[in-house]
Amino acid sequence: MAKDKILVIGASGQIGVELTQELRKIYGDANVVASDLREENSLLKGTGPYVSLDVMNKEMLHVQVIRQRITQIYLLAAILSATGEKNPALAWNLNMQGLLNVLDIARDENLDKVYWPSSIAVFGPTSPKRACPQQTIIEPTTVYGISKFAGEFWCNYYCWRYGMDVRSLRYPGLISYKSGPGGGTTDYAIEMFYEAKAEKDYTCFLKEGTYLPMMYMPDAIRATIELMEAPAEKISVHTSYNIASLSFSPKELYEQIKKEIPDFNISYQPDYRQNIADSWPQSIDDSVARNDWGWQEQYGLAAMTKDMLLNLPAGQQSANG
Ligand code: NAD
Ligand code: SER
Repeated sequence: MAKDKILVIGASGQIGVELTQELRKIYGDANVVASDLREENSLLKGTGPYVSLDVMNKEMLHVQVIRQRITQIYLLAAILSATGEKNPALAWNLNMQGLLNVLDIARDENLDKVYWPSSIAVFGPTSPKRACPQQTIIEPTTVYGISKFAGEFWCNYYCWRYGMDVRSLRYPGLISYKSGPGGGTTDYAIEMFYEAKAEKDYTCFLKEGTYLPMMYMPDAIRATIELMEAPAEKISVHTSYNIASLSFSPKELYEQIKKEIPDFNISYQPDYRQNIADSWPQSIDDSVARNDWGWQEQYGLAAMTKDMLLNLPAGQQSANG
């Protein structure tokens, strides 16, 4: 059997850096090729191969897949919810064409597996607000959500039509300290941690009572790899799995951080991102992922808060803050 050789597209981003690091631990540094449109993230430098690559350039991508003898692709390049609303055409173009390029090449080169993340943004105002189930009304109102919903069904299509092994998770808002967030609505939570440590003062762009599904990055990375390593017969969802661990509001996160940093202050100035947040569920039912391949989170709010504050570099402000 051919040795696994993985290409991570979008490896310099918030998820890509940590996913590449973890994949390199499992598969060996030389067998995980990091790639991105922007420069290699400093945390990845010297840890394994890196290629500069635009996922929109199908020919160039195809050449790299053949040249590097790739057997699996993790596609992370995308425009997220808040940035997407500023340029809907660009978001649709990258999020859709990037995925279709990868799926076509994976089919033509008979790759073993493809991973592509969806999001809680597939859900819209008509979806259930609490414990939003795997299968429900899905009527997204953001261009990001529309692209994720369409993408899920393209993954499903390539699975049923061509027998491809494409796997996906609907990530909630991901919280991390290694690489800055890329322009999402849930980024407020990361900003709050940075500002708590740097300025002890934060103006939040969502209202204090806005509950959203969230997850700490170590749980998200583990979920991704566990899904990809699960036996194929355990995978019953070929669109994208609901996955959950936490649900909290800005006020609850603030109160948790304040336990560690008592002089931290917050104010609220909701902007256009409030409408996006209001269109999403407050919590997610992920029982299908738990039953199918044994998903189980490790971090609660208190444990995540302690770990974030311990590891965040002191005095640094959030990338998008
Ligand atoms: P990010 O913006 O931090 O990283 C995306 C990376 O893709 C960036 O490094 C960017 O330079 C790169 N990129 C952009 N255009 C490219 C192109 N044309 N070719 C190659 N690379 C390109 O995003 P992220 O937060 O790491 O998200 C990764 C994936 O996970 C996305 O599909 C996103 O929708 C999904 N997701 C993320 C979250 C979250 O909270 N971070 C939640 C749900 C889903
Ligand atoms: N964190 C993402 C966003 O806010 C959810 O997909 O866009």
